[in-house]
Amino acid sequence: MTTLTDLDLQGKRVLIRVDFNVPLSSAEDGSRTVDDDTRIRAALPTIQHVTGQGGIAILISHLGRPKGEVKPEFSMGPVGRHLSLLTGQPVVMAPAVKGDDVREIVRSVAPGEIMLLENARFEAGETSNDADLARELASLADVYVNDAFGTAHRAHASTEGVAHLVAEKAPGFLMQRELDVLGKLVSAPEKPFVAIVGGAKVSDKIGIISRLLDSADYLLIGGAMAYTFLRAKGQTTGTSLVEEDRIDLAKDLLAKAGDRIHLPVDHVCAAAFDNDATSSVVSGDIPDGHMGLDIGPATVADYSSIISGAKTIVWNGPMGVFEMSNFAKGTHAIAQTVVDATDNGAFSVVGGGDSVAAIVGAGMADRVTHVSTGGGAMLELLEGKELPGVTALGA
Ligand code: 3PG
Repeated sequence: MTTLTDLDLQGKRVLIRVDFNVPLSSAEDGSRTVDDDTRIRAALPTIQHVTGQGGIAILISHLGRPKGEVKPEFSMGPVGRHLSLLTGQPVVMAPAVKGDDVREIVRSVAPGEIMLLENARFEAGETSNDADLARELASLADVYVNDAFGTAHRAHASTEGVAHLVAEKAPGFLMQRELDVLGKLVSAPEKPFVAIVGGAKVSDKIGIISRLLDSADYLLIGGAMAYTFLRAKGQTTGTSLVEEDRIDLAKDLLAKAGDRIHLPVDHVCAAAFDNDATSSVVSGDIPDGHMGLDIGPATVADYSSIISGAKTIVWNGPMGVFEMSNFAKGTHAIAQTVVDATDNGAFSVVGGGDSVAAIVGAGMADRVTHVSTGGGAMLELLEGKELPGVTALGA
């Protein structure tokens, strides 16, 4: 694959697919601002390389799932304003991703400048990978760069279709780093390799758990999905969230894993899904009327002793309801242990929206080897699936 630094960008219109699908918050006056700019910052090296080389940076992204309709709450406007603050230069906004107006604006942008197109998913043809839309996008560009690792698992017009229609193309620096780092986890993880998998649903993580069982020495399970596994082992789980229809699958995974899967041995429980509910630590079986909302201290100790000895760590999914401060201790303790292991030489990768939010919120994002900007994309890559957005760059 050609790399970005191989390309002569001087005076060229460079269409850069970025993943600016970032959380926004609304003020009382209706204005919207970027809540977490991790993904925007992560794309800056590519954008600044393009502008620094005298290219015209034409950025395209999706935001949310507006399903082919123009919905103002999904406008890229707040993202453009934020990008302008981060780069210290104006960002020219386009009202759409195609059409005469957009072409006119593209013509008016000078080398070294940045332009941001409106939400690609305002076009129905984006998610259906419509050939006409892909052609329209390609007509804006001399060069195509895909830096949207977080969306690389989607075969959409701006991630896949367009890539086949522009001769000069390359992955951006963020995409390249994600592929290099995550590729290491897939191909040759240094042992012991510890995978920490959390989150609400086993059903979301079946693929990655099965795949990691081929290579991981330990799989530490947290979050609500742990209760489905505990039921599969015959334990009671009170009113904890359980996917009844996945209990058999959890049994199969446990049988395949032998003693490599570790489950919580104690839980922080409450009577209700409420931060202010009275909580207590319950060991083993969870009685009726109690709901597990975080891993308990004995589990933290067990998981921490394993993580401390790891040479490679991958973490996806929180250990509890970390958005509620009273049920965040387990997730924060695991974050601290991963950071300490990294200080001691472990190669550590954290991915998935919630675990990333937890590590960013704890101010520890720069203390692990890599924080992935991919949620679904990271899972699919680790599951061994092909990412259409990457494949199309080589074709
Ligand atoms: C993400 O946030 O995981 C990516 O931006 C992809 O978004 P999507 O799941 O709406 O395709």
